[in-house]
Amino acid sequence: MRRAKISIIGAGNVGATAAHWCAAAELGDIVLVDIPETGAMPKGKALDLAQAAPIVGFDAQLVGTTEYADTAGSDVVVITAGIPRKPGMSRDDLLATNARIVGSVAQRIAQTSPAAVVMVVSNPLDAMVQRTWQVTGFPPRRVLGQAGVLDTARFRAFIAAELGVSVEDVSAMLLGGHGDSMVPLASCASVGGIPLTQLMRPERLAEIVQRTRDGGAEIVSLLRTGSAYYAPAAAVAQMVEAIVRDKKRLIPCAAYCDREYGVGGYYVGVPVVLGAGGVERIIEVELTAAERAAFQKSVDAVKGLAETMARLTG
Ligand code: APR
Repeated sequence: MRRAKISIIGAGNVGATAAHWCAAAELGDIVLVDIPETGAMPKGKALDLAQAAPIVGFDAQLVGTTEYADTAGSDVVVITAGIPRKPGMSRDDLLATNARIVGSVAQRIAQTSPAAVVMVVSNPLDAMVQRTWQVTGFPPRRVLGQAGVLDTARFRAFIAAELGVSVEDVSAMLLGGHGDSMVPLASCASVGGIPLTQLMRPERLAEIVQRTRDGGAEIVSLLRTGSAYYAPAAAVAQMVEAIVRDKKRLIPCAAYCDREYGVGGYYVGVPVVLGAGGVERIIEVELTAAERAAFQKSVDAVKGLAETMARLTG
C-alpha cells in the first residue's frame, strides 16, 4: 500500500511537534517545510526525528526542506506557518502578518498539491482558513481548520480533572470560532455516557467553560515566549489520521458553512464527519436558545475578522 504524503508548512513548535506525532503513529511520509531564512533548520529537525525511528520503531520517511517542489503531490498539507501570540496579544492581533504568510503558502500549495486536503492551524484560525480557501480555489470540503479538537480536548481535560475520572471517558463538542467567543456545548458533553449536567453543578461547569475559552491565553501567559504546541499538534495528528485512514471521525473543526447553521459562507467551528475527502458532512445539532445566541455572537466575530482581512489583503 502506498504511504500517504503529508506536508507540514512551518517547521516551528506546532509544525515540528505535529511531524513527531504523525511519524510516531506511522500516518505517512512527512515533508517539513520552512522559509529559506531559517537555513537548514527544517532539514535538521527532519533528520533528528528520522533518527528517533529505530528507537521508537516507526517507518516513515522524513524530509526537511525550504523547497515547495519537495511537497509535490501531497495528500494532506498542514499549514502552521506564521507568528504565534506573545503574552497580552489576542489571536486577532496576528491577522495582518499571518494573512500575508498564509496567503503566500496557499498559493504555492495550490500549484504543487492540487488534490490535497489542506488543514490550517495558523491563527486567527477561522480567518486563515477562509484565506486559504480563497487563495487555493479548492472545493470547500478540502480546506478545513484545526481548532475544535484542541478546544474540546482542553474542555475534556478540565472536566476529567474536576471529576477525578479518565479523560478517555469524557466526550464533548463545541461550536463557533477559535477565539474568546467559542461555544463549548454543555448539553453535548458526557462522561461514560452520563450527561455532564448530571455530574457537575452549573456554576462549576460555567467556570470550566470559561477556562476552556481562555485555554490558549493561559498557556501563552505561562510560556511567555510563544503559544501552545503539544496539544495543537496532537490535534493535527488526530485529524490527519482521520483523513489518511478515512476514519469518518465525528469531530469539531473549522468548516465552510453556507446554509448550515445559517452562517452564510464563512469558516467556523462545527461538528463534521472527517474522512478521506476532507469534510464529508457537517452535522447540525439542536441548540438551546442560549447556545444559539452565543453561536451567533461567535459567528459575528468571525465575520468581522474576515471583513477586516478582506480590507487588509485587498
Ligand atoms: N512559509 C513557511 N514557513 C513559514 C513562513 C512561510 N511563508 N513564514 C513563517 N514560517 C515559519 C517560521 O519560520 C517558523 O519556523 O513558521 C514557523 C512558525 O513556528 P513558531 O514560531 O514556533 O510558531 P508555532 O508555535 O509553531 O505557531 C504557528 O500556529 O497555533 C498557531 O497561533 C499559532 O499562528 C501560529 C502558528
